[in-house]
Amino acid sequence: MKNRVFVFDTTLRDGEQVPGCQLNTVEKIEIAAMLENLKVDVIEAGFPISSPGDFKSVVEISKVISEPIICALTRARKEDIDAAAESLKFAKRKRIHTGIGSSDVHIKFKFNSTREKVLEQGVEAVKYAKKFVEDIEFYAEDAGRADNAFLAKMVEAAIAAGATVVNIPDTTGYCLPWEFGSKIKYLVNHVKNIDKAIISVHCHNDLGMATANSLSGIINGARQVEVTINGIGERAGNTSLEEVVMTMRTHKDIDADTNIQTKKIVEASRLVSRLMRMPVQPNKAIVGRNAFAHSSGIHQDGVLKKRANYEIIDPKDIGIANSSIILTARSGRAALKHKLEKLGYKLAKPQLNEVYQQFLDLADKKREINDEDLRLLMGEKATDRNIKLELLEVVCGMPLKPMATVKLWVKGKEEIASAVGNGPVDSAFNAINKIIKKPVSLEEFLVQAITKGSDDMGKVHIQLAYKGDTYYGFGADTDIVVASVKAYLDGLQKII
Ligand code: KIV
Ligand code: ZN
Repeated sequence: MKNRVFVFDTTLRDGEQVPGCQLNTVEKIEIAAMLENLKVDVIEAGFPISSPGDFKSVVEISKVISEPIICALTRARKEDIDAAAESLKFAKRKRIHTGIGSSDVHIKFKFNSTREKVLEQGVEAVKYAKKFVEDIEFYAEDAGRADNAFLAKMVEAAIAAGATVVNIPDTTGYCLPWEFGSKIKYLVNHVKNIDKAIISVHCHNDLGMATANSLSGIINGARQVEVTINGIGERAGNTSLEEVVMTMRTHKDIDADTNIQTKKIVEASRLVSRLMRMPVQPNKAIVGRNAFAHSSGIHQDGVLKKRANYEIIDPKDIGIANSSIILTARSGRAALKHKLEKLGYKLAKPQLNEVYQQFLDLADKKREINDEDLRLLMGEKATDRNIKLELLEVVCGMPLKPMATVKLWVKGKEEIASAVGNGPVDSAFNAINKIIKKPVSLEEFLVQAITKGSDDMGKVHIQLAYKGDTYYGFGADTDIVVASVKAYLDGLQKII
């Protein structure tokens, strides 16, 4: 059996420090419940002394979460530790995470202190925290840039004072993977009581090395990894949970694995992105919109012959029903044939060649060719199936309950419906759903301003799931509700 690596998720603490990503208590509880479903081992729920809101969130998360350990962060100060202990009083399993700087640059310029004094302050903090909680994690901040001999001395003293986990953070994302790995190995070989504690790695992504550094730490003896969903976190972010977990799952030769229920990864990623209003970059490893999308002819042909030709992970393992074939001017006949067959057209070779030429002409004008375009290419009449927006009327504001009325042409028939919702977009979508009556779920909803002014065009991208397949929709308008409805109808068009 592989070595077990514990997953310490800090989305709600280091992740939540990102400007604009702040969450209220209810949102934090929703994410904590998702993390419990994912089967993370530790949830770092907040930094209780930092604000009354953070304190309350740790209290409320402690009440609802049963399995994972709930952890609260502190500086090496009594008042921080008192607040953390108090906030954790309802936690079934609890941990205090305390620590201090370990690099000379932090010791001199952040604490205006000396190595001896910070070591002593760290040890005192561990001893004090131990009075409240048995499970104490000690962090040696900026360990990535710390002198290894001093770091070993500090870690040894923290364990002797009662630390059960020692966190070695690369706070500034400075290290190279082999350098960080050697640091962990050095600690394994030079800290006398290291067998009394678990080594944890906490890497930042300033040079894009967070995942590589964390894995290098694990390979060299770390047995806990600190991560966030989608890699969100201070500056360039933290190690992303999905990357480190899926690397261990994919590389059978890495003698380490986690307990994570990987089929829930995409759901967790979308939830965090939505609640934190932080879009995931389309090419983000594992969870980006394009991570399992193939658009060039050679790749499409290869993946249609055998998925493993161009995919090292089965998308089902992370909760995506299927990989997607995107038709563009770079696509080949194999992909076109595949898409046409899905729409019910079986073409002989000469006919396919003919349609392929028309397809290329269209693809040169249009960035992406959707099912609707293919049907038109095959000679179907647009009016037979188009959904057309005739009217959209929305009432919203304070203290009104948002309500929308939508009139559509659906396959040549006029249909009208009204619905309420939790906002203008939600009520418009609910009204459309009353007309369309399909079990479609909205997987992603992304709003972007094209430029910066309030009178400018808004762009909306949506992703819909229907019967195991994914459909994309796009809409643009100066009115963001209209743009959203256009995007929704664009997606639905492909389903109907
Ligand atoms: O990056 C860091 O050093 C931290 C510590 C507080 C663990 O987030
Ligand atoms: Zn950090």
